[in-house]
Amino acid sequence: MDAYDAWVRGRVSASRYRHTLGVVKAARRLAEIHRCDVEKASAAAFCHDAAKGMPKDALLSKAEEGRWPLDWVDRMRPDLLHGPVAAILCYEELGIRDEDILNAIRYHTTGRPDMSLLEQIVYLADLIEEGRDFPELPRLRKLAEQDLTETLTEAFDLILRFILESGDLIHPTTIHARNWYRTKINANKEEESMIGQ
Ligand SMILES: [Fe+2]
Ligand SMILES: [Fe+2]
Repeated sequence: MDAYDAWVRGRVSASRYRHTLGVVKAARRLAEIHRCDVEKASAAAFCHDAAKGMPKDALLSKAEEGRWPLDWVDRMRPDLLHGPVAAILCYEELGIRDEDILNAIRYHTTGRPDMSLLEQIVYLADLIEEGRDFPELPRLRKLAEQDLTETLTEAFDLILRFILESGDLIHPTTIHARNWYRTKINANKEEESMIGQ
């Protein structure tokens, strides 16, 4: 794990590195609570923002080189590619071959429908780490210890609201992710009420 730490530290700004350590801590904690592999969570958390801050052209060319399918929104907002590009760098420079770790890194920005346990943990750890500060945070932190599906459903709604208010573009994968989790949570609630009848 020290190798990942040193590699990331050499690639990102001091404040991004501080954020990374916060995500590692939060991811390890969530992994323990939800019985996920703590070392995998730690590896993905260390590497998730390794491409953050890369120039737009470099992000686009690296994504193309790695045959990442580019959406029109990716071309308009190349920073959204820092997840997929970090995964390409981890594959090439760190020799990471574990697809679950690579996916957790790839999808930590947009999310996606039906994420694995590890992907969900890294996505949420990124949002709730100790350096973050927004009004809904205490509730999300508490909920993340109890129910990941419910937390993700709330998180996607919150993030989409935030993007809409900022007037920025929404990545289509985030919309698909939000719809998937909203449908899942509604189905879970229906099932619960059937059991209660
Ligand atoms: Fe990120
Ligand atoms: Fe991050």
